[in-house]
Amino acid sequence: MAGHFRSLPTQADQRFPSYPQFSGFMKPCRFEGEVQNLEIEGTIPQSVNGTFYRVMPDPQLVPFVDNDPWFNGDGNVSAFRIQAGKVHFKQRYVRTEKFVREREAQRALAGRYRNKYTDAVEFKVRTTANTNVLVFNGTLLACKEDAPPYAMDPETLETIGLYDFDGQLPSVTFTAHPKVDPVTKELVCFGYEAKGDGTHDICYFSVKQDGKFSETVWLISPVVAMIHDFAVTENWVIFPLIPQTCDVERMKQGGEHWQWDPNIPFYLGVLPRRNAKGSDVKWFRAPNAFPGHVFNAFEKGGKLHIDLPVSDKNVFFWWPDAEGNAPDPHEITAYLFRFTIDPHSSETDLPPPEMMLREDCEFPRVDDRWLMKEHTHCFFNLMDKTLGTDWPAIGPLMGGGFAPYNAIGHLNVKTRHFEKYFPGNKHFVQEPIFIPRSEDGEEGDGFVMALVNNYGAMSSELHIIDTQDFQKPQAIVYLPMRLRAGLHGNWVDGQDLAFANP
Ligand SMILES: [Fe+2]
Repeated sequence: MAGHFRSLPTQADQRFPSYPQFSGFMKPCRFEGEVQNLEIEGTIPQSVNGTFYRVMPDPQLVPFVDNDPWFNGDGNVSAFRIQAGKVHFKQRYVRTEKFVREREAQRALAGRYRNKYTDAVEFKVRTTANTNVLVFNGTLLACKEDAPPYAMDPETLETIGLYDFDGQLPSVTFTAHPKVDPVTKELVCFGYEAKGDGTHDICYFSVKQDGKFSETVWLISPVVAMIHDFAVTENWVIFPLIPQTCDVERMKQGGEHWQWDPNIPFYLGVLPRRNAKGSDVKWFRAPNAFPGHVFNAFEKGGKLHIDLPVSDKNVFFWWPDAEGNAPDPHEITAYLFRFTIDPHSSETDLPPPEMMLREDCEFPRVDDRWLMKEHTHCFFNLMDKTLGTDWPAIGPLMGGGFAPYNAIGHLNVKTRHFEKYFPGNKHFVQEPIFIPRSEDGEEGDGFVMALVNNYGAMSSELHIIDTQDFQKPQAIVYLPMRLRAGLHGNWVDGQDLAFANP
């Protein structure tokens, strides 16, 4: 392992390199602390009472790997506490083993993205916990798909430690996209590469509201591919495989964990949600494509419907194919499709999906109360080049390495009514969340909230939009700093999580 130290940065090399993913708005933020009473323009309704948690990859130290992808940064968790029309902000890094040991060493020790063979030291768990944050049983879980989650205190954002569900976690990995069943309150989960790097094993399981595991099923994937998100219906689970594949021999030679494979199908694995055996999984196939995040899935007439954006190009262009081919990032788009699957069919080649919306979209949300059943409304990030974004002004400031979106879309999938919220011509949006107007209100009636990058001010804002008046903001909350691109977050209602202090 000694040879790895040769490539560590020297004392003189303590600046982030000038790659787009470390430049402009994407320059690492690295702030920890709190700001009470953020500035607000407009009014936040009293009924919006809770906390918006989100996480961003944010390297605390200069990586020693050349051209490190932006989402290899350490997980830095932001919390926006909203109560009585006021917003209080707090941010803390997840104290992962990687974060703590690198801080002790005062230098980066972890190497390439998900390649332990390039590390300067041996870690027990090398995750960055940088992909999603959600509250489960009163604990905030910071997740990345390569490891178990880290538990954090949802009020103080202090890290409690690696979380193995009281010793019940059977898999060495845990998805960053578990789903909460709005009816049974189960946390439906899986891990892939579940027995370690390069393994074909997937472990599917549910955690009941009392924290006990059920439905633990081991199954085998046809290829060792990325399974970033998945879908759950009342009776089925669906695993969409991204054709980014892993080869441990390549990793041992210092190469990337992932390589795009344009020659394999886009697989969708379908498994009964309850009382299944691993051999019950059925692998359906569609032509090679890049599936994005799942909007939702549901059952109707004995068929499964799964809505998700799909791109005909490799969205993770920084991991090219074996010949080094990667698309021009400016040419990558993903449109919204609905796949229909007959889970009992012996025909595994799927019929062509229905295009629901020919707009470049990602980071979808539905009203969480409608997860796993037929939904009408969905909200998502949108790139619409006709909206008037001031490209000459923001181009030099954006930085890169992330998927840029300049608006939030709202689609009624039944009427196909489509509306957009455009935050401004020097603004891009991050993943939206949806907050119902009231606990038992109509689907999709409430507020959409998203962090917005303001390239004019080079600072971040939280925009809150009333779904009954979607074109203009209900309120804009101003941060006195810049938060780089994050991945995912969730809203936790104040009724579900009570804090001792305001
Ligand atoms: Fe994700």
